[in-house]
Amino acid sequence: MAHTIRLARPDDAAALAALDARVNFSPWSEAQFAAACCGHVSARDWALVVEEDARVDGFVVMARVLDEATIYSIAVDPLQQRKGLGQALLTAALDQAEQAGATRCLLEVRQSNSTARKFYKRNGFHLDGVRKGYYPAADGREDALLLSKLLEGTADECA
Ligand SMILES: CC(C)(COP(=O)(O)OP(=O)(O)OC[C@H]1O[C@@H](n2cnc3c(N)ncnc32)[C@H](O)[C@@H]1OP(=O)(O)O)[C@@H](O)C(=O)NCCC(=O)NCCS
Repeated sequence: MAHTIRLARPDDAAALAALDARVNFSPWSEAQFAAACCGHVSARDWALVVEEDARVDGFVVMARVLDEATIYSIAVDPLQQRKGLGQALLTAALDQAEQAGATRCLLEVRQSNSTARKFYKRNGFHLDGVRKGYYPAADGREDALLLSKLLEGTADECA
C-alpha cells in the first residue's frame, strides 16, 4: 500500500509524540500534539501526517498568521527516512499554507542538524539570522538558525 498524506487528528497525538521522541532532542508532549492536531488549514495551527496502512510514518506541524507561515516541527520515522516522505510532507504543507494566504515560510533549525539543513537548503530556504544558545543541548546550549523562504507566487512576483 502506498503512503498517503492527510490532515492530523487529535487521536494521532500519541503516535506523533512517540515518533518525535525517537528523532528530537526536545520532543513535544502528547498534549502539545493534541492541540496542534485539532486545526485545519484555515486555522492558526494545523498538522499533516504521512501514513501507510494506518501506520503514521511522519508529520509536519504548521502555523499561519496572516501572510506568514511557520514550520513548528517536521519528522519522519528513522526507518522510513530518505524515501521522499519528508519532501512530500513539506511540499503539501507549503502548498496549503500558500493557498491559505501565506507568502513566506519561516522556521528554526539546530546548528548541528546537518540533515535538516540540507533538506531545507534543497527546498530553497535561506539563512536570515542566528538565535544564540536558543536550544538546550547535551553539552549546554546550541544556536538556532533562522531560515525562511518566499512561497511560489510571491517569489515569481519578486523575480
Ligand atoms: C529532515 C527529515 C524530516 C527529512 O525527511 P526524509 O523523509 O528523510 O527526507 P526526504 O527523503 O524527503 O529527502 C528530501 C531531500 O532532503 C535531503 N536530505 C534528506 N535527508 C538527507 C540526509 N540524511 N543527508 C543529506 N541530504 C538529505 C536530500 O536532498 C533529499 O533528496 P534526495 O534523497 O533526492 O537526495 C528527516 O531527516 C527527519 O525526520 N529528521 C529528524 C527530525 C528533524 O531534524 N526535523 C527537522 C527539525 S527543524
